[in-house]
Amino acid sequence: MTRLSLVICALCLAAPVQAEMDPSDYEVPPADLTPEEAEALRVRIAAEIAAERARAQAEAEARRAAEAEEAARLAARPVGERLVEARCAACHSVETYQQANQGWLGWRATVWRMDLLNGAGVDAGEHGLIADWLYAQHPPTGGRAALEWLAFLFVIVALPLPWALWRRRKQKT
Ligand code: HEC
Repeated sequence: MTRLSLVICALCLAAPVQAEMDPSDYEVPPADLTPEEAEALRVRIAAEIAAERARAQAEAEARRAAEAEEAARLAARPVGERLVEARCAACHSVETYQQANQGWLGWRATVWRMDLLNGAGVDAGEHGLIADWLYAQHPPTGGRAALEWLAFLFVIVALPLPWALWRRRKQKT
């Protein structure tokens, strides 16, 4: 018999025996170690396993702490910032707000328009909070704010005007 077939034969005979082995049998150190050496090896391996476990645990703990810190930081932000992120960030980055040169009225109108036309899903109480925040972060330049108020006043005065005239005409006749 060749050497190879001998090895194969030995493996075939050994396989059923190995199948019966208990996992603890694998822990038996090589026979050429003295009991002291075997014990030292066992202790070293146990220490390595413990160290690896401690390292993995410390890593997981550090990751959890970082996540909790990030969550706390996000939750501690001003409500306006969080609302803008929740209602507007799906479609806009901060550049949109930087480019928009408008006063508080303009922001109110924009939030309305985004809610009505683009489905931003802004709740009733959130309109003012979002406008306040965006106005504070991106104040208008030039006479923009004054212009908005003038336009607003004009609308307030101009809209009821035809009605007032019509009433006066009716009273005269
Ligand atoms: C579903 C997508 C969507 C959401 C959500 C959305 N927008 Fe818009 N937004 C648009 C589109 C589209 C335009 C360009 C057309 C337009 O002006 O209506 C725009 C334009 C704008 C503009 C710039 C131009 C302008 O004419 O004033 C601003 C500022 C703006 N959005 C702010 C907001 C704010 C603030 C929110 C959150 C309350 C918001 N958007 C939510 C889609 C969205």
